Amino acid sequence: MKLPYYISWTKQKDAETFEIASVNGVTITTTDGRHLIDMTSISYQAHFGHNHPIIIKHIKDQLDTIPMSSPKGIYPGKIETTQSLLRYMKKENGKIFYTTSGAESVENALKIARDITKKKIVLARTNSYHGATLGALSATGDWRNPAHMTPEGWVVRIPEPNELDALEKTRNIILKNGPDNIAAFILETITGGNGVYAGTKEWWQGIKKLCLEFNILLVMDEVVCGFERTGKAFGYMHYGVEADLLCLAKGISGGMIPFGAVWTSEKIADHYEENILCCGLTNYAHPLGMAAMKGVLEIVHDKKFQDNLSHVQNIFKAELEKLKSLSIVKEIRVHGLLCAVDLHKSVAGKKFFNKGLYLVAQTNRIILAPPLIISESLLREGMSKIYEVLEENL
Ligand SMILES: Cc1ncc(COP(=O)(O)O)c(C=O)c1O
Repeated sequence: MKLPYYISWTKQKDAETFEIASVNGVTITTTDGRHLIDMTSISYQAHFGHNHPIIIKHIKDQLDTIPMSSPKGIYPGKIETTQSLLRYMKKENGKIFYTTSGAESVENALKIARDITKKKIVLARTNSYHGATLGALSATGDWRNPAHMTPEGWVVRIPEPNELDALEKTRNIILKNGPDNIAAFILETITGGNGVYAGTKEWWQGIKKLCLEFNILLVMDEVVCGFERTGKAFGYMHYGVEADLLCLAKGISGGMIPFGAVWTSEKIADHYEENILCCGLTNYAHPLGMAAMKGVLEIVHDKKFQDNLSHVQNIFKAELEKLKSLSIVKEIRVHGLLCAVDLHKSVAGKKFFNKGLYLVAQTNRIILAPPLIISESLLREGMSKIYEVLEENL
C-alpha cells in the first residue's frame, strides 16, 4: 500500500513496515498475529519496554492536571523533577535546558557552545550520528550527512579513537584549524547505531586535556547511552572525564513522549545569568515529557529494576559468548545492554523478523539493545532465535 506519510531513511518504494496490533512489555504483536521480541528497544528508546505502567501513570496524572506546555510557567513538580535528574546524573552543580528530541538536544548544545566561545568550528568523529536537523546533521559523520546537506566550515573531522596516534593527529588538526576557531568537540560516549565503539579512558582523558589546553568545550552525546544503557547510569561515568555539555533524549522518557535535555556546566549556567540564552521551544519542559521523566527516574531508582538489570546484563554476555562459536560472527562489542555483532556477511533484517525478532540489521552487522526491563527468559529466547538465524545463514 502507498502510504500517505513518509518512512524515514529509506527509498519510499522499498520501505519495510509492519502493522502493530498491540504491545506488551518487551513484545510487539502484529496484526497478522506475529509476536516479536524487541531486541533493540525499537530505535534505542524503549528502555523500559513499550508500556511501562509507572510512566503511563505519571503521564495520565499530568494529563488530568496541567497538560499544556508553558515555557515560563512553573507548575508543580517542574523544579523537583529537574533536581532529581541532576542528582541522578551526579551533576547537581549544572543546569538543564529541555528539548523534545535528541537532535534538538545536540542542536541546542552546539548553539550554546558556539555562543559561549564565540567560535564556530566543531570537531566530530566520522563514525557518528547526532541527529537529523541541520546543525546535528552537520556533526554527523555517517552516510546520513551527504555533502550538499550541511554548510561548509561548521565541522572538522577528527581521527577515530582506535586510529594510530589518534590524539597526536587530533592535536595537529586543532593547530591547523586554529584553536581560536574551534568551539567544541561533540562525541558520543559510546557510538550507538554506528557499531558500539567506545574510546578508551586514556583517549577520553587525552581529549579532555586538549580541551583544557586550547580552551575548547566538550559536548558529550548521551542520547543512546544515557539512562542505564551501557552498564552505568550514563556513558560518561565510564571515563572519569567532565563534559561542559551533555545531550540527553530517548531513555529520558522511555520513548513514550518526545523529550530531551541538555545539561550545561555551572560555568555556562553562570554566563547566562548575565547574557541572553538565545534558545527556546514552544514545547519547552513540556509537562507530559517531565511526567514521563519522573516515571523514568522512579524506575531507575527501584531496587528490583536494578537487580534485574545486573542479572540480565550477565545473561546477555553469556548468550553473546555462544554466538562467538558461529563461523559467521566476526567480532562482538558489548557494554551493558548495548551490543554490536559484526558478521562476515550480511543477513537480511527480514530473516530475524520472520523468526519473531525486532532488531536493527545493517550490512554485515546487527545491533542489539534490548529493553532494560527484559526478563531472563525472554532475553534467552531472543538470543537463541538470533543464534538460529545466524546458524541458518553461515
Ligand atoms: C547518538 C545519537 N544522538 C542523537 C540522536 C538524535 O536523536 P532523535 O532521533 O531523537 O532526534 C540519535 C538518534 O538515533 C543518536 O543515536
